[in-house]
Amino acid sequence: MTTDPTDTTDLAVLLRSLRVWDPEITELPVFDPATAPADPLALFTAWFADAVTAGQPEPHTMSLATSDASGLPDVRTVMLHGADREGWAFATHASSAKGRQLTARPYAALGFYWPVLGRQVRVRGPVTAAPATESAADLHARSTGALAAALTGHQSEVLPSYDDLEHASRAAWERARREPDAPVPTWTLYRVRPDAVEFFQGDGERRHVRVRYRRGEGGAGWVRELLWP
Ligand SMILES: Cc1cc2nc3c(=O)[nH]c(=O)nc-3n(C[C@H](O)[C@H](O)[C@H](O)COP(=O)(O)O)c2cc1C
Repeated sequence: MTTDPTDTTDLAVLLRSLRVWDPEITELPVFDPATAPADPLALFTAWFADAVTAGQPEPHTMSLATSDASGLPDVRTVMLHGADREGWAFATHASSAKGRQLTARPYAALGFYWPVLGRQVRVRGPVTAAPATESAADLHARSTGALAAALTGHQSEVLPSYDDLEHASRAAWERARREPDAPVPTWTLYRVRPDAVEFFQGDGERRHVRVRYRRGEGGAGWVRELLWP
């Protein structure tokens, strides 16, 4: 089907034709909240593995929401580098827009959506930057392309022309191939240490199950509670 992207009527028709949690398209799992483990990390790990097994494309991508210096929100997609007792990790340039926002307001929210299972996970909490040696080790364990992208630099700055990017990227790829340990001082591994983690299981009859974990008083243990959908 071809659509004229400038025709807003077509967009309205398209939107009306689309469904979520359609039992004829997606067989959604049943999530019994009574089976939820005591720790959100265990449930995240299990749901992540389920998403991979179910063939969810790029389940390791997530929305990262930050606030700017005025408190206004911003959001973009980044890759999950890990999740453990220390938090949910991602990496970026400290000099990027999000990096500067995190320096000013070290607090973030993450959002995962795995439509093949009708599942969403939300994580909120304070953000810390890993030491430079750890950030470098994380980058150098990744692909040549990841290093080349990091070496290209200037993230979030205005790009005068696409030629400038081609030139910088070509030089960055050459250096990444020649020098796999090339330093990228601004590249930083960040961790979101969750105050709250919410798991959402979509349901065809809209009786979605929402389970929120929040840290108990003094940070001891997790309180689990159901939320109205
Ligand atoms: C699938 C996907 C994965 C991405 N992963 C990262 C990432 O891990 N780190 C990163 O800095 N940017 C990543 N980006 C680019 C960001 O979405 C964003 O464009 C860039 O980081 C600049 O954001 P900022 O101007 O808000 O700082 C990714 C984009 C997509 C679409």
